[in-house]
Amino acid sequence: MVKAYSGAVVIADVLLLVLKILYFICEGIYRCFFPVDEKSVAGEIVLVTGAGHGIGKELALKYAGLGATVVCWDINDVNNEETISEINNLGGATAHAYKCDVSNREEVIQVAEKVKKDVGSVTILINNAGIMPCRPFLDHTAEDIQKIFNINIISHIWILQAFLPDMLANNHGHVVALSSMAGIIGLTNLVPYCATKFAVRGMMEALSEELRISCSAGGRNSNIKFTTIFPYMVDTGLCKKPKIKFPSLMAVISPKEAAAQIVTAQRKNKSVQSIPNYWLGINDFLRNLPDKAPLAFKDFLDSGVAADD
Ligand SMILES: NC(=O)c1ccc[n+]([C@@H]2O[C@H](COP(=O)([O-])OP(=O)(O)OC[C@H]3O[C@@H](n4cnc5c(N)ncnc54)[C@H](O)[C@@H]3O)[C@@H](O)[C@H]2O)c1
Ligand SMILES: *[C@@H]1O[C@H](CO)[C@@H](O)[C@H](O)[C@H]1NC(C)=O
Repeated sequence: MVKAYSGAVVIADVLLLVLKILYFICEGIYRCFFPVDEKSVAGEIVLVTGAGHGIGKELALKYAGLGATVVCWDINDVNNEETISEINNLGGATAHAYKCDVSNREEVIQVAEKVKKDVGSVTILINNAGIMPCRPFLDHTAEDIQKIFNINIISHIWILQAFLPDMLANNHGHVVALSSMAGIIGLTNLVPYCATKFAVRGMMEALSEELRISCSAGGRNSNIKFTTIFPYMVDTGLCKKPKIKFPSLMAVISPKEAAAQIVTAQRKNKSVQSIPNYWLGINDFLRNLPDKAPLAFKDFLDSGVAADD
């Protein structure tokens, strides 16, 4: 039955809401000047998918340097072993390599069991592995499209099913997912890729909300945090034919710098972070203008990716 509110209760509720919103705005401004301390990741068990190359590799190195135990997954075991040996060269860090095709559900379940036995429960999960074939929508083959979805989004679900239950049982954990600015803005030659990156964003927000609601129903706070990352262009080779009109303004970021920003966002419990960080703000602003305004901005930037050969 719909609850009937009296007029006075409605007014009190609205006033309370306005006060809360004002409070959180003030808190946000305060935090611009006095940022929160980054939480320690020492002793955490961090799983990085796609740790053999690019952003994933730099993330594995960074977390190892911060005293975490790192579990590296990649379909390319030669590159993955190379990451492990670089971590071992740091001295003192513990790292474990597993070959895993994250798009294969049986393999994910098997390897996850092995990790739990050998290393323990993963407390920080970084869903990073991804592919980005670039071509016009109708030129993608069916297999191609299925593969983009399986690696870029469906894999996140299989891996979460393996590791989220332990995080829930301990009410401790952090899930980080690599979306992309292509998960915020639709781009040419990237239709299936954009769809998967929008999906990553939606899944992360919905899952985070579900845990928030279920915990508050149980009278406690969820200590499982969610961070979704939206990089623009990172110099890893993933983006084969980048087109950038103003290279001095929009420098392509190194994977090492991207990893540093991702780790900081995770340690500050940020729910979303673009790299560079101004992109989300620019998008929010432009989306409030008439439709043609953001299109004019896109034409002005004239940047993106050309089709693969
Ligand atoms: N590089 C960019 O400009 C950029 C921009 C936005 C978002 N991203 C996202 O960041 C993430 C990492 O990108 P990157 O540039 O470091 O890519 P990369 O190609 O340099 O590295 C990706 C790694 O994932 C591994 N991998 C691929 N398929 C796999 C599978 N099925 N199972 C397990 N491992 C697999 C590859 O072997 C490789 O080691 C991706 O999700 C990508 O979409 C990258
Ligand atoms: C992040 O969240 C964890 C878990 O709730 C909490 O212990 C920690 O203090 C938070 N840190 C920051 C920087 O917000």
